[in-house]
Amino acid sequence: MGLRTILHDSDPTLRKQSREVTNFDRRLHDLLDDLAETVAHANGAGLAAPQAGILRRVCVINVDGLIELVNPRITASDGTQEGAEGCLSIPGRTGLVKRPNRVIVEAQNRHGKSVVLEGEGFLARALCHELDHLNGVLYTDVMERFMTLEELAELDKEDEEE
Ligand code: CO
Repeated sequence: MGLRTILHDSDPTLRKQSREVTNFDRRLHDLLDDLAETVAHANGAGLAAPQAGILRRVCVINVDGLIELVNPRITASDGTQEGAEGCLSIPGRTGLVKRPNRVIVEAQNRHGKSVVLEGEGFLARALCHELDHLNGVLYTDVMERFMTLEELAELDKEDEEE
């Protein structure tokens, strides 16, 4: 166990529906541990099981700490935000994507216990992005357009000023 290979967007696995998790067993725990290790290593905001070639409804979010989600679904959302979004399966590109500004997600933890999570701003964006992966959807399917090099340079400047 350890780092998993991240599939690239040309891989047809990324277009498939993931299946519900029904066994909260060692195999699931190993998968969650590996996703956490892989997303941290890649310095990503999230990673979904299908990106590692596993078609199960499992993902991790790496925004202000690690969140593990099993069988997650969005039960409420409001507002809109438009911003930059990338994906570990689409290296070197950034899209301009509209997302809800706030979402409520119901899911299970690694032991099968129900959890409810509220995300705003970037966390809401990351949740929408990872949940889309479980339905075979990539941000490039829902984006306005790819961002230009000039726009990305501008974003970098803003980050440095923060
Ligand atoms: Co992604």
